[in-house]
Amino acid sequence: MIRKILKWSGIIIGTVLLLALISYSFVSYRISGRMNKHYQFAAEQIPIPADSVSIAHGRHLTLIKGCTECHGDNMAGGLMADDFPLGRLAAPNLTRGAGGIGARYGTQDWLRTLRHGVAPDGRPLLLMPSHEFTVLSQTDLADIVAYCRQLPAVDQTMPSTKVGPVIRVMAYLDKLPLLPVEKINHDAPIVKTADTTEGVALGKYLSISCSNCHRSDMKGGDPLAPGQPPVPNITASGEPGRWTKEEFFRTLRTGITPAGRQLKSENMPWTMTARYTDKELSSLYQYLHSLE
Ligand code: HEC
Ligand code: HEC
Repeated sequence: MIRKILKWSGIIIGTVLLLALISYSFVSYRISGRMNKHYQFAAEQIPIPADSVSIAHGRHLTLIKGCTECHGDNMAGGLMADDFPLGRLAAPNLTRGAGGIGARYGTQDWLRTLRHGVAPDGRPLLLMPSHEFTVLSQTDLADIVAYCRQLPAVDQTMPSTKVGPVIRVMAYLDKLPLLPVEKINHDAPIVKTADTTEGVALGKYLSISCSNCHRSDMKGGDPLAPGQPPVPNITASGEPGRWTKEEFFRTLRTGITPAGRQLKSENMPWTMTARYTDKELSSLYQYLHSLE
């Protein structure tokens, strides 16, 4: 009897493993096909300013849009992950130094990466959130490029990115923006202007940076990855809907909620939201409170 049970459990486990292997091979093959695709988009040009106010604004944008969280504070490259199930995820060196892309990038190359999610050779950029940057206004795009172009040169060659099984499966299930190029409306022209006065419109514009995680309706949902906390609803109907503006500011700047809970910056990037100005946080607060 015991032997029979063991034999049958062996067959069942073996079959399950085999099926898992076959499905994974299929998923991995499909994702590789999408990663190896080549894209071509018409080159775009905009004037790039060189004055110190625009460059300082560009620096601010690289902080609040998370560029420095991935590419490093000096933008000379950063390792986002390097372990087995995830893979090796490296954000490249953007300076003019050896191993950096700065020296060979023209305005059209910067715009192609930020607006279309592809490298100058047409290769789709992996995990680089261009679907958030494509909706930035022309002024914001120009200021980011102005800042990036004058970064001090740093010599650093980053390793190439190797996407592991967890990322492949999550990308296949559309749980992770591995290929932002697929999420972009490439026919949409550059946004001419965005409201820059404090208020709901500016808050909505800024909330694009929250939408990857809190979803476009800001109502949150399932955890973004296995082992992570669920993503909370941050509209008027969620917990932060009851917070005062001061409590909202404190949470986004220190990661400590009004209930005294410390949010981990790996889950909720408060090190990024800490960089928002009072005007920007106030606008986000007004926008989120306007949503039911
Ligand atoms: C979530 C992490 C993340 C954020 C945020 C991010 N990047 Fe990236 N970026 C990457 C990764 C990863 C790559 C490399 C993708 C690849 O090679 O497939 C990349 C690639 C690039 C490239 C193309 C380099 C090349 O190889 O030609 C440029 C330019 C760039 N990023 C600029 C920016 C700027 C500017 C910002 C902010 C506005 C930004 N990135 C924000 C992760 C990020
Ligand atoms: C990388 C994903 C990610 C991004 C981007 C992100 N959040 Fe979060 N946020 C989370 C997660 C996950 C939590 C829950 C963390 C926990 O419970 O430990 C959270 C928690 C919060 C909380 C606390 C809510 C509560 O009920 O305690 C607020 C407020 C918040 N986020 C606002 C924002 C705003 C505003 C933005 C955009 C400017 C933003 N988040 C961007 C993932 C993200």
